Amino acid sequence: DKAGHKHFMAKEIAEQPALLADLIANYIGADNTITLPGDLNFADYDRVLMVACGTGYYACKTAKNWFETVAGMPVEVDVASEYRYREPPVGDRTLALYLSQSGETADTLAALRYTAGKAATIAAIVNVPESSIAREADVVLPIRAGVEVSVASTKAFTNQLAILLMMAAKAAQDRGKILAEGLIDGLRALPGILNVVLDAPDNVQSISRGLAEARDVLFLGRGAVYPIALEGALKLKEISYIHAEGYAAGELKHGPIALVDKHVPVIVLAPRDRLFDKTVSNMQEVLARGGKVVLISDEAGINEFGADAWRTLTLPRVHPTLAPILYTIPVQLLAYHTAVAKGTDVDQPRNLAKSVTVE
Ligand code: M6R
Repeated sequence: DKAGHKHFMAKEIAEQPALLADLIANYIGADNTITLPGDLNFADYDRVLMVACGTGYYACKTAKNWFETVAGMPVEVDVASEYRYREPPVGDRTLALYLSQSGETADTLAALRYTAGKAATIAAIVNVPESSIAREADVVLPIRAGVEVSVASTKAFTNQLAILLMMAAKAAQDRGKILAEGLIDGLRALPGILNVVLDAPDNVQSISRGLAEARDVLFLGRGAVYPIALEGALKLKEISYIHAEGYAAGELKHGPIALVDKHVPVIVLAPRDRLFDKTVSNMQEVLARGGKVVLISDEAGINEFGADAWRTLTLPRVHPTLAPILYTIPVQLLAYHTAVAKGTDVDQPRNLAKSVTVE
């Protein structure tokens, strides 16, 4: 049942605020205490290992930044298909996290099995609590996103991000670190903000019609939103079949700028945070080569540099740590509307399966 939407993907994008609110209410009490299943206590671990595939991997990359900056914990992140064959050393004070919407991804399950008996604890972050990955873990953290039908993952990603952020905040509390002011309250307010962004009549559709003409699209981001640039590129290529690459903005001049000309839209994710000026200077390098910049920022950022861009998208201002969750919404919408403009099979893109149970 698409609940009045044209595609499951559109329905699942629209469900995100309510699902996020439910997830937060499930894990954070009225007094801001975070309670995780299995009584996970991060004082018991000295590092975190996170392994996943595809979109889940980008959630892990986002979380690496959070665990490091919010909780001061070292984090290793890898894609399961690489991790499983590398035979990496695993410390006995490592918390090993396996992230999978389906809970059935073959590579992720194999990586989990490799660390069984080596890591201190194996935790599964899954959408399907009865799945194989959940069954083989010591602790299961359900993301409570409901059934996700669209092959392109959307609502599972935002709930994965939220649970990982709550874990990083719990890790900070467990390890006696002071949480940044306003972070938990900001997280609680985020579903309302996502609702506003999803409802706002904006120019996403006209930008998407422009993207639909492109052969290549670049996504750039720095710091907290760099993994969202990767996720944006993955989403666009999966459902619109347009070649898209996500890059750390600072890597632009180390190669990808050679691709830029007036035919290449470059989507720049740049909340007005402490790295904004750096990202803007990368954007200017793109403009100098005639690239078509789509600047996604908040009002302050758009007021400063929006005039130079081909198109802009203005998002509300949120706590910088929360920006990855918010900036996910426009990249999902751009991918969706571009695919609709191209007339592809949005929910069942060619060559892809919802659950990858063979390697
Ligand atoms: O079920 P999983 O989270 O383990 O799946 C991992 C990837 O196959 C999945 O995220 C894939 O990249 C999606 N199609 C992304 O939209």
